[in-house]
Amino acid sequence: MAIISSKKQPPEPNRQPKQQRESAKAPKAPSQKAPPQENILQPEAAIDEEGKQEESIRPQRFADYIGQQDLKDVLDIAIKAAKSRGEVMDHLLLYGPAGLGKTTMAMILASEMGVNYKITSAPALERPRDIVGLLVNLKPGDVLFVDEIHRLSRMTEEILYPAMEDYRLDITVGKGSSTRIRSIPLSKFTLVGATTRVGALTSPLRDRFGLIQKLRFYEVDEISRIVLRSAELLQTPVNSNGATEIAKRSRGTPRIANRLLKRVRDYAEVKTYTEINETVAAEALQLFQVDPCGLDWTDRKMLRVIIENFNGGPVGLETLAAATGEDTQTIEEVYEPYLMQIGYLSRTPRGRVATKAAYQHMGFKPPNEQLSLL
Ligand code: ADE
Repeated sequence: MAIISSKKQPPEPNRQPKQQRESAKAPKAPSQKAPPQENILQPEAAIDEEGKQEESIRPQRFADYIGQQDLKDVLDIAIKAAKSRGEVMDHLLLYGPAGLGKTTMAMILASEMGVNYKITSAPALERPRDIVGLLVNLKPGDVLFVDEIHRLSRMTEEILYPAMEDYRLDITVGKGSSTRIRSIPLSKFTLVGATTRVGALTSPLRDRFGLIQKLRFYEVDEISRIVLRSAELLQTPVNSNGATEIAKRSRGTPRIANRLLKRVRDYAEVKTYTEINETVAAEALQLFQVDPCGLDWTDRKMLRVIIENFNGGPVGLETLAAATGEDTQTIEEVYEPYLMQIGYLSRTPRGRVATKAAYQHMGFKPPNEQLSLL
């Protein structure tokens, strides 16, 4: 089953943003996730979150979406221009670390355009017939969201080229010398691709997107506002200092912030606190080993290994992976982006280097030679 989720817009004027999940989830590979406590800062959606609570607090319109102002401005213009011309919007590629709201953006885009969306991900489009089935069923204007688009198979990607460019499906019929290409017209649609690894896209695919936009990590005040909004929807009393304390530990990532909020809510309920303030949030998150900068045990281990075993670096990715027991992809995609964002890690041509701020955060004295490398 190629479609993970899809939504029909209810007819105007009674447009109701409530989600409708039409079809079954795509089969998933067995989970290889770490136990929940270690998982709390992973930006990937946990399986139970995909369908339930994350949906209930997901913003449905740009007006409710906090942060990513530059991106919202660009999309707002693109939507208004497409609407005024009565055309579909250009294909859009969204890239950036996990958990920043790429799927939400695609849903909002469909909602603002007043069209339906279908959500799938590249691993669910393994066979050519998966993407063909999706494309032929698109209605005019539909938004097709393909997550992890850098993982498309070559065959699927080649089917997408004429579909994106000319809204056409080219099917090969016959064998040997009688092979012919039959073209089937498709409804005009907008493909929204999402990826954490824009560099891993082939250039023919990347070049077919009219808009290529990056999502950035959120500022603490933006995450704090997201926490307050979610808390209200979850009917959990949180004051502004409590929200800021959660925000500071959320790695600039709304998905993590909302997850931490739920853990703090559990803590407050069990301890019978009536409101989540700074102290309650800090106590609860300490229990989950999330430090005041949002670092977890693995982040700290990575920094400690670089500082203690490699004199602060530079150390190559493979070596770091072997020394920490993490795989290179997880280090590159999950741990490094945030450590670099907060200035604790830098990438040099010779490898990864722990910065002065990392030494200080970890309670080490930075050596002078280390400073000269930065
Ligand atoms: N929940 C998750 N991401 C959000 C965002 N950017 N704005 C508001 N609520 C959110």
